[in-house]
Amino acid sequence: MTIPDPTMTNLDPNWWRQAVVYQIYPRSFADSNGDGIGDIPGITSRVDYLKNLGINAVWLSPFYPSALADGGYDVDDYRDVDPKLGTLEDFDEMVSALHAVGIKVVVDIVPNHTSNRHVWFQAALKAAPGSPERARYVFRDGLGPNGDLPPADWESFFGGPAWRRVPDTAPGGHPKGGQWYLHMFAPEQPDLNWDNPEVREDFLKTLRFWSDRGVDGFRVDVASMLTKDLSANPLPSWAEIQDGTLWAPGRHPLWDRDEVFDVYHGWRQVFNEYDPPRTAVAEAFVPPDRTHKYATQEGLGQIFNFDLLQANYNAAAFRKIITSHLKFAAQTKSSNTWVLSNHDQVRHVSRYGLPNNPPGAREGHMGRQWDLHGGKNMSINAEQGLRRGRAAIMLLLALPGSTYLYQGEELGLPQVTGIPDHARQDPTFFTNPGVDVGRDGCRVPLPWQADAPAFGFGTSRGPRGVAKASSGGETTSHLPQPEYWGDFAVDVELADPDSTLRFYQKAIKLRQQLEAPEETLTWLDPDVELPGISAAAANDVLLFSRPPVADGSTWVCVSNFGTDPVPMPKGEVLLASGPLPNPGELPGETTAWLRR
Ligand code: GLC
Ligand code: CA
Repeated sequence: MTIPDPTMTNLDPNWWRQAVVYQIYPRSFADSNGDGIGDIPGITSRVDYLKNLGINAVWLSPFYPSALADGGYDVDDYRDVDPKLGTLEDFDEMVSALHAVGIKVVVDIVPNHTSNRHVWFQAALKAAPGSPERARYVFRDGLGPNGDLPPADWESFFGGPAWRRVPDTAPGGHPKGGQWYLHMFAPEQPDLNWDNPEVREDFLKTLRFWSDRGVDGFRVDVASMLTKDLSANPLPSWAEIQDGTLWAPGRHPLWDRDEVFDVYHGWRQVFNEYDPPRTAVAEAFVPPDRTHKYATQEGLGQIFNFDLLQANYNAAAFRKIITSHLKFAAQTKSSNTWVLSNHDQVRHVSRYGLPNNPPGAREGHMGRQWDLHGGKNMSINAEQGLRRGRAAIMLLLALPGSTYLYQGEELGLPQVTGIPDHARQDPTFFTNPGVDVGRDGCRVPLPWQADAPAFGFGTSRGPRGVAKASSGGETTSHLPQPEYWGDFAVDVELADPDSTLRFYQKAIKLRQQLEAPEETLTWLDPDVELPGISAAAANDVLLFSRPPVADGSTWVCVSNFGTDPVPMPKGEVLLASGPLPNPGELPGETTAWLRR
């Protein structure tokens, strides 16, 4: 079996279907000039690392000019690189270097809102109510005799009110204050008005701008919220907005409206101007029976499936999710997206180190678990977390479809807890005092070298692990790295054959060799395949086979979610997520792949 030559697959229009996509959070990946902020040349300098990992594509979180009110998801200019992170030339070099080793490039596109520094919003502030400048956003007069009350009592997803009043500086404006604008996220993220043709046109221009530069695909931020209907007078209350039963599917005033698919049909026409066509994946938190609408081949093509990320480590839960999502994807000729971690979530090895449904678990932003940040007062069983994390990702990598990895998970990085308040950056921390510690704990810069300033993240001199964004000359890492970070450093893990990094490298490469074009699996019965297993233990085992590979052999993936060993199914063990001390036995919380 040979690994396909990457240059041969560069034109394959189906490259995304079963790709392993590695998410880079640029500010925290690698810092080429030692200012404490990861940058584009930093990514280029690590292309070999990415190649050796065996991934097929990178997805870059926003690198556009931004004041970082929301980690870059507040975009000042969609068609440029933040000078803190490099230049457009640096970007082009990065794309060429990645393409040269067969790695595709996906960029994040943020269409629901611009930043408040975007030229459009600045122009809207200077213009009068009712002007074309204001019509690109969602401006409304306030309620009450002087318009002092917001147009509605809506709350932003980051906490606090979703409407903010602007000073009315326009000629003839009310001296005390002017209109209000909608921001479903931070106040620095005004929502765009997608009924406005200029807004639609401009995003097509942006898609072409990056596609012309060789970008292969787009990750679409908050994809379900672009089109809104604010025609009701008075506007519905926040209680009504949150009550899903008041509107028919596709008719909710703020999200998941059917009109949004017209936008994406237009985008698809742009994608199809290119060869191979550009791809997209939607970030959309919508009910299960609506997800397929975002994944049609006439629309974005793929949607993130966050169900496994939100599930407990449990065989029945995993099986149910896997089965239903295979069905959803088939409905639209899409492929599945499997994901355990991203820049918004508690890193999965830490989640898996917590007891299931830990006390104090609360639903955060759009149903996610932002406040399980290793839990200030919750003890994490790190060994259990890593063992389960490795077993779970190996199960995901065996599934048909694409797998999305988040930078640092290949090192087994845990969520960083105990970041001091003064070093925090995430707006959700500031708007939910004492409730939500925010997402900074999964965004701490990567450790590359155990024995270097900032653990090799940057090149500058300075005390390691104590920097903060504003500390000027001392800055080595824009978020502080914990003392133990060196234990997870790339150089340490490369030197250890049993490290999590070596394990990811092996699993990803092996997956490429085992990958069949058929996106199917067949569940096998542990009672039959694992002779002598007890009924209780069989409930903890997931076992499936995948279609034959090029040489005609088949293979199976077996995952033991229980804590006691079970019999190993027949076949030649190709890889396991943890040690196999006893021949013929699969230990607890371990996954193995076997050839038959
Ligand atoms: C998405 C991003 C998140 C961001 C939000 C607002 O959920 O993943 O990081 O804060 O959109 O753009
Ligand atoms: Ca830098």
